[in-house]
Amino acid sequence: MIVTEIIKKRFSCRTYSEKSIEDKVLQEFVTILNSVHKGPFGNQPKFRLIHITSFTPQEGEKLGTYGVIKNARLFLVGIIKDGPLAMEDYGYCKEEIILKATALGLGTCWLGGTFQSGSFARAVDLQKDELLPTITPIGYPAQRKSLTEKMMRGFAGSDKRKKWAEIFFADDFATPLTQTHAGIYEEALENIRLAPSASNKQPWRILYDAKHNIFHFFIMRSFSYKLMGIVSLQDVDLGIVMSHFSLTLQEQGIKGKWLVDPNAPKEKTLDYIASWQAEK
Ligand SMILES: Cc1cc2nc3c(=O)[nH]c(=O)nc-3n(C[C@H](O)[C@H](O)[C@H](O)COP(=O)(O)O)c2cc1C
Repeated sequence: MIVTEIIKKRFSCRTYSEKSIEDKVLQEFVTILNSVHKGPFGNQPKFRLIHITSFTPQEGEKLGTYGVIKNARLFLVGIIKDGPLAMEDYGYCKEEIILKATALGLGTCWLGGTFQSGSFARAVDLQKDELLPTITPIGYPAQRKSLTEKMMRGFAGSDKRKKWAEIFFADDFATPLTQTHAGIYEEALENIRLAPSASNKQPWRILYDAKHNIFHFFIMRSFSYKLMGIVSLQDVDLGIVMSHFSLTLQEQGIKGKWLVDPNAPKEKTLDYIASWQAEK
């Protein structure tokens, strides 16, 4: 499957089927998980699959229905050591795995919260210097979404995405980047727009400097997420869109690299994070 198709197929699945994952599919998925994962900034998250039977029956019952999730029995847990751009690398690597799961026909849902202590931390034997920013149920999606799931999607406006003019800019933040101006980058940018984000806030803002063929990635932080400490879900959001951008360009044979550009433009309301520059 091509990357754009997989990105369009992915959605936050909150109601799972009773059917267990087929052995062949599970094996393929575990092989992907067990390979080495390294983000563009060198951080190396680790991934583990935790079955609900690893928990006590009381814990399991609660976790299987975590929030609005129904029938989850298997969870993908990602662990990372703190460091510069660790949350971006975490989002980047975990989204790659989520897209592979999607291609295998599996449903997933990013769940962000406080997992530093508690059942999941215990199940993966989380060490003092490790962070557990998100967990993700994995399984076949149920034929029908539960009523709670439908309400949740409506409430979060999950099917809506910001318009190009709100998130993509050319040369300065007063000038929207149009699809025509984006040229060969149009599909990669559109795939950023379709990405999942915590509470569907879509905090990414991208500035294209055509003269230097460089895209600067910024976060427009929401007040509620600023209070979350070292596990910043909006930095995870940025890592997710970086992976959508890279994967699409890789598939199209467009080469470039990630960097932190000390000369990136500044904007009062935004946090500059990183840039992608095309190969000369
Ligand atoms: C980092 C992150 C954390 C999230 N945390 C939660 C969560 O705790 N509970 C939940 O139901 N959905 C969570 N979501 C899913 C978003 O609400 C969802 O991606 C968004 O509404 C867009 O819907 P879609 O994924 O179906 O396209 C999270 C998504 C991301 C990327």
